[in-house]
Amino acid sequence: MAWKASEATGKFPLSDYRFLPLDELSRRVRVVKERLGRSLVILAHNYQRDEIVQFADVQGDSYQLSQHAAQDPHCRAIIFCGVHFMAETADILANRPERVAARGGRAPVILPDLEAGCSLADMATLSQVEDCWRQLTQVLGEEDVVPVTYINSSADIKAFCGAHDGIVCTSSNSRAVLEWALARKKRVLFLPDQHLGRNIGLRMGIPLQRMPLWNPSLPLGGNDPASLREAKIILWKGHCCVHQAFKPEHIDAFRQRFPDIRILVHPECSMEVVQKADYIGSTSQIVKYIREAPAGSRWAIGTEVHLVNRLKNEHPDKEIYFLAPRISMCATMFRINLARLCWAIENLEAGEAVNVIEVDPRTAELAYVALQRMLEVR
Ligand code: 13P
Ligand code: SF4
Repeated sequence: MAWKASEATGKFPLSDYRFLPLDELSRRVRVVKERLGRSLVILAHNYQRDEIVQFADVQGDSYQLSQHAAQDPHCRAIIFCGVHFMAETADILANRPERVAARGGRAPVILPDLEAGCSLADMATLSQVEDCWRQLTQVLGEEDVVPVTYINSSADIKAFCGAHDGIVCTSSNSRAVLEWALARKKRVLFLPDQHLGRNIGLRMGIPLQRMPLWNPSLPLGGNDPASLREAKIILWKGHCCVHQAFKPEHIDAFRQRFPDIRILVHPECSMEVVQKADYIGSTSQIVKYIREAPAGSRWAIGTEVHLVNRLKNEHPDKEIYFLAPRISMCATMFRINLARLCWAIENLEAGEAVNVIEVDPRTAELAYVALQRMLEVR
């Protein structure tokens, strides 16, 4: 079956779905999914709502979802329940020219809501990064710096890394990727999440003073040439707001209340939080820690609330708390709901792929270089 990418609303408008009850939407999604079989793959990030996760062929962290997009031999269309950079990555990996030729066409990658972006990814634009690179290489020389981008970045930033001998990392493989990069050149420019870069750099034994922060709105990022020459990892001034809600005092309060509690956080949290935690991990590593924990153990988890609530429900034999006193949720992940999934899947079955994310071929080619290096390093 070939699908036509629709720029408008598809054959069936979204407004027809908005107010349908959840049980009807679920029933309809299930029926179409069954009919489409393995030709359709629904990928869902761990932060998605339960109503979405129930339909996922693969639920996982950014690395696992990318890996699936790169490998699935049967899929002819992907509905990506996550955020924009994830759908872009899936398009780059699933629609390599050789895979398109073998399949006889592109596999459209559908993002049920085009507004589902990532504010962290938006904190580094290509023009800012190019400007930074010009300034940096005047001081350091291009042969001495490897650009490394967290997967939470736009396709053109990944392409920039691909074009400059750089690489992509995720929260699950950032240490291996940084070791790979620092074995090749003296230093790394780490985009766009300062916290992930700093937390992993510290675990690798790199002192803070050798990880200066690059503020894109200041000349030389707010640094002097000497500190840049001394640097091992130059950290881009970006962050995830969702993970900045967790504070060291939240950990202190839990430890006071329950001396045996274990603190498990995502590496996008601040250094002060990560240093007080017992464990850090990607979203899937967090799932694994809890799955393997003994019954009766107590945990406070610092990551997006939908994942923490799901873990609480799935493990009633363990005592699980959300680390912050107030909820912190990823509002853009939350934009994907069952009405939008049903709208996307029914239009797909009717021959129209709505909200297709397609990366231009030149950007995709260069971004692939950096993504492929990441998949090989792990
Ligand atoms: P993971 O790769 O750990 O799933 O993280 C993605 C993300 O956006 C976390 O905020
Ligand atoms: Fe981006 Fe933060 Fe949402 Fe993850 S939780 S998708 S980093 S905004």
